[in-house]
Amino acid sequence: MNYNTCFHLLSFLFIQCSIVSLAMTVQNLNSDQFPLFEFNDRIVDPQNVLANNWTNSTSICKWVGVSCGIIHERVVALNLTNMNLRSTIPPHLGNLSFLFSLDLSNNNFYGHLPNELGQLHRLRTIRLSYNRLNGEIPSWLANLHRVQRLEMKNNNFTGTIPQTLVNISNLEILNLEFNQLSGQVPSSIFNISSLKRIHFRDNSLSGGLPNDLCVHLPKLKELYLNRNELSSFIPSSIDKCCNLQILELSINQFSGIIPKSIGNLTQLKQLYLGLNNLEGQTEEIDNLFGLEMLSIQAIKGLTGQIPKEIGNLLGLELLSIQAIKGLTGQISTSIFNISSLKTIALSSCNNPICPGPCK
Ligand SMILES: *[C@@H]1O[C@H](CO)[C@@H](O)[C@H](O)[C@H]1NC(C)=O
Ligand SMILES: *[C@@H]1O[C@H](CO)[C@@H](O)[C@H](O)[C@H]1NC(C)=O
Ligand SMILES: *[C@@H]1O[C@H](CO)[C@@H](O)[C@H](O)[C@H]1NC(C)=O
Ligand SMILES: *[C@@H]1O[C@H](CO)[C@@H](O)[C@H](O)[C@H]1NC(C)=O
Ligand SMILES: *[C@@H]1O[C@H](CO)[C@@H](O)[C@H](O)[C@H]1NC(C)=O
Ligand SMILES: *[C@@H]1O[C@H](CO)[C@@H](O)[C@H](O)[C@H]1NC(C)=O
Ligand SMILES: *[C@@H]1O[C@H](CO)[C@@H](O)[C@H](O)[C@H]1NC(C)=O
Ligand SMILES: *[C@@H]1O[C@H](CO)[C@@H](O)[C@H](O)[C@H]1NC(C)=O
Ligand SMILES: *[C@@H]1O[C@H](CO)[C@@H](O)[C@H](O)[C@H]1NC(C)=O
Repeated sequence: MNYNTCFHLLSFLFIQCSIVSLAMTVQNLNSDQFPLFEFNDRIVDPQNVLANNWTNSTSICKWVGVSCGIIHERVVALNLTNMNLRSTIPPHLGNLSFLFSLDLSNNNFYGHLPNELGQLHRLRTIRLSYNRLNGEIPSWLANLHRVQRLEMKNNNFTGTIPQTLVNISNLEILNLEFNQLSGQVPSSIFNISSLKRIHFRDNSLSGGLPNDLCVHLPKLKELYLNRNELSSFIPSSIDKCCNLQILELSINQFSGIIPKSIGNLTQLKQLYLGLNNLEGQTEEIDNLFGLEMLSIQAIKGLTGQIPKEIGNLLGLELLSIQAIKGLTGQISTSIFNISSLKTIALSSCNNPICPGPCK
């Protein structure tokens, strides 16, 4: 074989190879193109964002909101936030089998989540906040083991939080706030040890928290449970969440004493316990030198005196105290030593139940 023949053979192989790989690319693109076309066909797009951009003349990888992987050119992310899109979520998205990230937040998607999304095993991010989705939070979400971020706030989801979510064992952010969820928070949720943020505020959740709250949540930084109907006591195991920065429990029906272990949460920046039925001394709070926001309510333990130790909290920006029996005594002048303080809200009401914010 002379040099020339060899060269021709090589270029022949190279061309064959290129044709094969081109064919694969086209096939792959087509397989993701179909669900995207179907999606586009089914949504109302009043601003024509997609109509003017998702055209056959350009590769889907160049379409607005679509990102493809470098090697396989499959759709890995779909980000259609803030486009005023309106429809139910088309089931065809379940065929975008390489999807890592789905962000449809800030639109007008309504109706139930289609079961087909449960096929998207590669998903790591699901963001559907600020839509009008309703129905129950589907238990098949638990099949998506790799999800790290599940954000579905400001929708109309009803029913209970499925306990199967515990199977999403890499979950870091779980945001279901501003929905209409009810029933008890399944204790299995507090077993997802990867969780960093739990946001359940503004629902109708009821019942108590598990005694071992925080025992399995070493990474938790934010716990928002305010504006629900939660009752019973604050578990003293709360200090096992040693990285906790925000603890928001206000406007519930928690009762009993504020656990002293709260004083061990040295990372805490925001502590909201107000408008519950809590009692107890608040001395422990004075160890929380990092506190910036503090809202407490007292029925018995605090008789209206602002404890002078609060003057030690030199980073405090907001201090809100609601005293059921009325504020009496002197306002400790130590709080005027807190140069960071921007807001002081002192209120009182004589009704021991105190249903809403005290006047
Ligand atoms: C774009 O391609 C799809 C799928 O091949 C086809 O169904 C559709 O009619 C095409 N649209 C236009 C405007 O050519
Ligand atoms: C679609 O949008 C992308 C990103 O904004 C842009 O680069 C591209 O030129 C647009 N294509 C068409 C056909 O308008
Ligand atoms: C989607 O795009 C918006 C706006 O560009 C951005 O803020 C958001 O972080 C993106 N979502 C994801 C999951 O990357
Ligand atoms: C998903 O793909 C399969 C196989 O290509 C097809 O049979 C099915 O109709 C597709 N489903 C949707 C909802 O597009
Ligand atoms: C949620 O549902 C209620 C009652 O079904 C309805 O009044 C409300 O407008 C809905 N909210 C949204 C954001 O769709
Ligand atoms: C959750 O995980 C357990 C143990 O791995 C398994 O038995 C169960 O079927 C899973 N449930 C769901 C809904 O994935
Ligand atoms: C939480 O995990 C602990 C230890 O792994 C286990 O004993 C307990 O049963 C789990 N609780 C729930 C509700 O899954
Ligand atoms: C704070 O933690 C230490 C060490 O774990 C423990 O000995 C102490 O009792 C805790 N304080 C409170 C008030 O729980
Ligand atoms: C305010 O701070 C000054 C200087 O650190 C200190 O001398 C004084 O005792 C403090 N006042 C109160 C009421 O804590």
